[in-house]
Amino acid sequence: MTQPNSRISKAVVPAAGLGTRFLPATKATPKEMLPVVDKPAIQYVVEEAVAAGLSDVLMITGRNKRPLEDHFDRNYELEEALARKGDARRLGQVQEPSDLATMHYVRQGDPRGLGHAVLCAAPHVGDQPFAVLLGDDLIDPRDPLLSRMIGIREREGGSVVALMEVDPSQIHRYGCAAVASTGEPDVVRVTGLVEKPDPSEAPSNLAVIGRYVLDPAVFAVLRETRPGLGDEIQLTDALAELAGDERTGGPVHGVVFRGRRYDTGDRGAYLRAIVRLACEREDLGPEFRDWLRHYVNEEM
Ligand code: G1P
Repeated sequence: MTQPNSRISKAVVPAAGLGTRFLPATKATPKEMLPVVDKPAIQYVVEEAVAAGLSDVLMITGRNKRPLEDHFDRNYELEEALARKGDARRLGQVQEPSDLATMHYVRQGDPRGLGHAVLCAAPHVGDQPFAVLLGDDLIDPRDPLLSRMIGIREREGGSVVALMEVDPSQIHRYGCAAVASTGEPDVVRVTGLVEKPDPSEAPSNLAVIGRYVLDPAVFAVLRETRPGLGDEIQLTDALAELAGDERTGGPVHGVVFRGRRYDTGDRGAYLRAIVRLACEREDLGPEFRDWLRHYVNEEM
């Protein structure tokens, strides 16, 4: 295990998935580029990493993911056109993503699961703890989660996962944690983890949501992790190993998140995320809320 106080500066964002749940929109566009109101989902994730002090972002990509790289790069043609028009506001919007963080990209090649995607980050991350952010979960910036997880890693060492209480009937959609109390509010010790269990076999109703702070010891474990559920190398299985054995890079703690989270992982959740975020926008919200109220009352 590395020293608990090694500074965390790197974020890993797996983005190699095929996005089949959003076809045909994702035939030629990565699902990470789908807009949530007017910003691609992936930009929220990078902004969250940056807000937690992580200025080095490695994206794990694959074929057809070029638009991700373009989004976080300069676009001189567009910038020049907006500058000529004197449209400073839009020019700022175009430049913002490229100024956020130092971006790096590596291709996953074979899509062999989330654990395999994280393993692709090993050469870049090296022997330092790092964060993993999954793009299907957006965390409201007013309810900071990652900085709290980083604080726990710095104090306790090991790895930290984000957990959320879900209705037991929904636990089969997530990794699920068996936990023990630590005495600290909303911080638990993870004693076991199982990927997408049947509700009748789930050890709790605590679901893993897509934020992790990981000890680099996870790489050695992932190299040995056999394909699990769905014949994929599961990050959950590697973390279960770490949770069970202090010597291999544990402990694993969990932070129980009670803030605002927007799921963009399937079509229904994605639509709800857009409506909620649009309602809260200062520029669009007032008019949109009026329209929505009218629509719900009069037309539904
Ligand atoms: C992944 C993880 C799962 C976790 C989920 C959170 O699953 O494997 O443990 O609960 O992300 O969003 P996926 O949703 O990629 O199938």
